[in-house]
Formats: sequence, C-alpha cells, structure tokens
Amino acid sequence: MGIRKIGIMTGGGDCPGLNAVIRAVVKTSAGYGWEVLGVEDAFSGLIDLDYRSPYGNRWLDDDVIRNIHTRGGTILGTSNRSNPFAYPVERDGREVEADVFDRVLANWKRLGLDALVSVGGDGSMAIAQQCIDRGLTNVVGVPKTIDNDLGATDYTFGFDTAVAVATDAIDRLRDTAESHDRVMLVEVMGRHAGWIALHAGLAGGAHAILIPEIPYRLAAVARAIEARRVSGQPYSVVVVAEGAIPAAGEPSYRDDREVGGMRRLFGAAARVGEGLADIVDLDLRVTVLGHVQRGGSPSNFDRVLGTRFGEAATHLVAAGGFGRMVALRGTEIVDVPIREAIGHAKLVDPQGQMVRTARSIGVVFGDEAE
Ligand code: F6P
Repeated sequence: MGIRKIGIMTGGGDCPGLNAVIRAVVKTSAGYGWEVLGVEDAFSGLIDLDYRSPYGNRWLDDDVIRNIHTRGGTILGTSNRSNPFAYPVERDGREVEADVFDRVLANWKRLGLDALVSVGGDGSMAIAQQCIDRGLTNVVGVPKTIDNDLGATDYTFGFDTAVAVATDAIDRLRDTAESHDRVMLVEVMGRHAGWIALHAGLAGGAHAILIPEIPYRLAAVARAIEARRVSGQPYSVVVVAEGAIPAAGEPSYRDDREVGGMRRLFGAAARVGEGLADIVDLDLRVTVLGHVQRGGSPSNFDRVLGTRFGEAATHLVAAGGFGRMVALRGTEIVDVPIREAIGHAKLVDPQGQMVRTARSIGVVFGDEAE
C-alpha cells in the first residue's frame, strides 16, 4: 500500500529550526500528494486524539506553514513528558507512569496514518526506536538539539542560533566588565557537553571557558584572572557550561528532580562565582542565560539545515527508509539507523583541535598546571 497520510511531531526541548523542518516536510509531501498531520505535543496528540482539542492535532496546509521557518519554537508544541511507554497517568489519586502504547496504535489506525516523522533528540529517538520494536514500524527520525551532542550527526539545527545568542551576551557582558573592572561569569546550556560554551566562548573572546569535558580547579581560573589584573586588564569574562565539573567533583544539580529521566542542571556558574569570590581581588557577577538560548528566530544556518533535514526525511519516507534518521555528515545529508543515534553523546575532545586552538590564543580551561 502506498503512502497517503503521514504524521509529524516534535519532542523534547524546543529549539530554533523546528518550524523549518515542519514546513519542508509539508512542502515536500505536497509533491507526493500526501496529507500531513501535525501531532500536538510529541506523542500526547496520538495518545489522546482530543488532547487540547480544538487547538491540538491539525492537518497542515499551506496556510498553516506559511513563513513559519522564520519563527523559533515549534507550531506543534513539544513535551518531554509524553513518552507512551512511561506516560504520567493518575491512579488512586497518585501520578504514576504507565505503558499506553496500545492507545497510540489504536489512534494511528483511526487516523489512517501511514508513516511518522519524529523530530527530537536522544530521548525522542529512543522512543521512536521503541515504537518500531513494538510494531509501529513506519517511523523516520530528524535530530534536533541546541546542545549539538547527538553522535550520529555532525551538527543539529538550533545549536548555531544558541551559540549566536550566547556570543551576543558575552559581547555585552565584556563591555560592562571592562567598564567596572569586574569578573563576569556567564552560564550557558549544553547539558553534559561543552559545545555551546566552547563555540560561544571562542566567538565572544572569553578569557576562560569551563566545560564538562575538562574538570576545572578554581585556583587555575583565579590565577588567570589575577595575571590579567596585574598586567593591566582588571576584568575577565568566564564562560561556564551548565554541566561544568570541578576536579574531583560532580556537576551542579537542582535537588533530585528529574525531567524526562534526566537530572536537571542548576547553579554551575554561581558555584564558580562563590569559590572565586574568596580568592580573586575583583568584583564578580553571575549571569545565567538559560532558556533565552532556546528561543528567537533561527539563524540562516539553522533554517537551512532544518529545511534540508525535513526534505530529506520526507524522501526517506517515500523510499521506505523506516527506522532511519537523517543526519549531516560534512556538507551532505545522509541517513543512519535511528539506533545509532541513541545513547552515544558527542562530547568535546579535550585534546581536539578546537580546544588546542583556544589554548593557543590564551583561553584558560581551569586544568592548567601552576
Ligand atoms: O537539551 C536542551 C536543553 O536546553 C539543555 O541545554 C538544558 O539542560 C535542558 O534542555 C533544559 O531543559 P528544560 O527546558 O526542561 O528546563
């Protein structure tokens, strides 16, 4: 049986470029004569067809997708709590997680869907693979995350925009740091990968960059700040990845609360600031960029990558390439088994070229010997 109707959903944290993917899938599908259903809030719209009705699931036509590639977020909504294999339901007045995949299968039939494009990160790809293993085979994946930590692709869209936002913030903070002779600590996202910190730190000319892949010692950071001060530069900008780790320490977590199975990171830059306050002879301020990095109009790069991924994913459906995910390798869009994308975080290589370049131009990572 040929394809007539496909679904598309976005899962996990949003990121700039998702709407470009949706638009490209709808436009490319039109060439095949397919209808495209936008599923609301990841699997929520398939678990419950009345979810958020009448604003939930909708068939995507030209009017809906017109010019959405310029907008951040996702017009479909997203969630990191709509895993059909561990879905929050109320039982005996308590919230528990239940396997509701039978509901997905029943609604899939009711809607007459022939295939699904799942746009998401590591967690969403793991769910997509579980769907395939449990009989909903016609799924293709599109990778996304601002963290750029998915192993199977060289870049994910969203990362470039997040780096641009963080770089702009660093530029602004350097101005005020220099005026006031202060140390500015700026915390950026990235989970347990230092990509955003490294790229934005380099682009913004940070004096120190603390990333999870290179555990830091406060004494080394303080030495660099002091060296700048005595040489007539009594200000510094330190970029701190939210997952930065002190030598022989742990990342900084918020309570024990978990989101989508992951512990939430919190307070990395504040911790560095508190430690430095005792050993540095300058005023310190901490700025946490947070979700500002996730919003806003996507950069040109992210619009183009999102569009290329969406187009390629649609052709992958047409070719019957189920169980596969589109990816960027070098400058080419390829496809790889979804399985390959799961559980292999791509981290910064502490000995790699990017870190070596940064060190060569004087950037401190906090692991320098005395
Ligand atoms: O994975 C993307 C990301 O923005 C991480 O950089 C960050 O740690 C996390 O999501 C924040 O998640 P939430 O939106 O649930 O607070």
